[in-house]
Amino acid sequence: MKPREFAPGIFAVGVVDWDRRLFDSLIPLPDGTSYNAYLIKGSEKTALIDTVDRKMPEILIDNLDLLGIKRLDYIISNHSEPDHSGAIPQVVEKYPEAQVVCTPRAKDLLIDLFHLPAEKFKTVNDLETISLGDHTLEFIHAPWVHWPETMLTYLREDKILFPCDFFGSHIATTDLYVTDEGRVYEAAKRYYAEIMMPFRAQIQKNLEKIKDYDFELIAPSHGPMYGEPDFILNAYHEWAFDEPKNTVVIPYISMHGSTKKMVDYLVSALATRGVNVEQFDVSVADIGKLAMALVDAGTIVIGTPTVMIGPHPLIAYAAVLANALKPKAKYASIIGSYGWGTKAVETIASLIPNLKVEIIPPVICKGQPREADYQALDKLAETIVQKHKESGFK
Ligand code: FEO
Repeated sequence: MKPREFAPGIFAVGVVDWDRRLFDSLIPLPDGTSYNAYLIKGSEKTALIDTVDRKMPEILIDNLDLLGIKRLDYIISNHSEPDHSGAIPQVVEKYPEAQVVCTPRAKDLLIDLFHLPAEKFKTVNDLETISLGDHTLEFIHAPWVHWPETMLTYLREDKILFPCDFFGSHIATTDLYVTDEGRVYEAAKRYYAEIMMPFRAQIQKNLEKIKDYDFELIAPSHGPMYGEPDFILNAYHEWAFDEPKNTVVIPYISMHGSTKKMVDYLVSALATRGVNVEQFDVSVADIGKLAMALVDAGTIVIGTPTVMIGPHPLIAYAAVLANALKPKAKYASIIGSYGWGTKAVETIASLIPNLKVEIIPPVICKGQPREADYQALDKLAETIVQKHKESGFK
């Protein structure tokens, strides 16, 4: 994508990665992604806000050439992860006068990642400013969105926030701005679930920290820009602050059908009692959708057969993932079947120490479920309904 000027002297110069399908060798990217970088030509100085993925530096460099940039004073690095910092070495090489502006923690990380000399850096304190002449950059330290070194850059005169990953969405699009709110809401929620949810307490603090700023535009480093910032700010408030919903998420595996019968029965038992349920066969599910469902879940029920005395390995993977994402669910349980012996419940419980949940007694059956097992599932559904009511989940 060639550079596009979206405000006087401010250009989008990043890259759209249409075909990328996996991030961190883990996260599915069904809609690709973008690495947005922004150039600000001030009356006295020029700054580049973030760079692009380490695999695509030439597109950014070409864009700077197309804009005729002969001198670059600052490379603002809001976040050190290489999808945004990966082209810093090439930009520094092309513009040797440029200083890399970042937090002190980011400086250490960037030196480790790219072996850049320390004198290339200018570290900034929280709320410190740099003037470009007619534009002022204010740096807002915002740790843990989603690394420890992250900061946001606020362009005061234009009231534009450049938050890097914060508020981002993995969408490859030619749209500079959000045009389809439904599509972006879903992608941003998926992104929040996968990247930001583990740091919900810090997300809350950072949302509080920026609440009195006046934003006319939020320009993240993934996905389209928010011309109506309240759209994404309100969504983040809901995801980070609101109580869980009257929703049960059931990640499960079934090998010979017994666990699936239990899942189907429980889903129906909950649905007829007015509880929303989302079930995921982990062997085929998009884990991004599972993560997204966990944002609102009041209860998580894990369904597993027993394999070699423990849970199915794919369920162990899902449990480790859920433990890492730290959703705000308040309750959890386990259902499943075994042939001749099982330690699935104990093993799963040991894999989810980060989940601050009350465990509702599991329902584990031997072989195919019998009438007593279905009755136990009805009781589990009743208990979940009761717990959700007591907790006020809507
Ligand atoms: Fe988009 Fe944390 O990198």
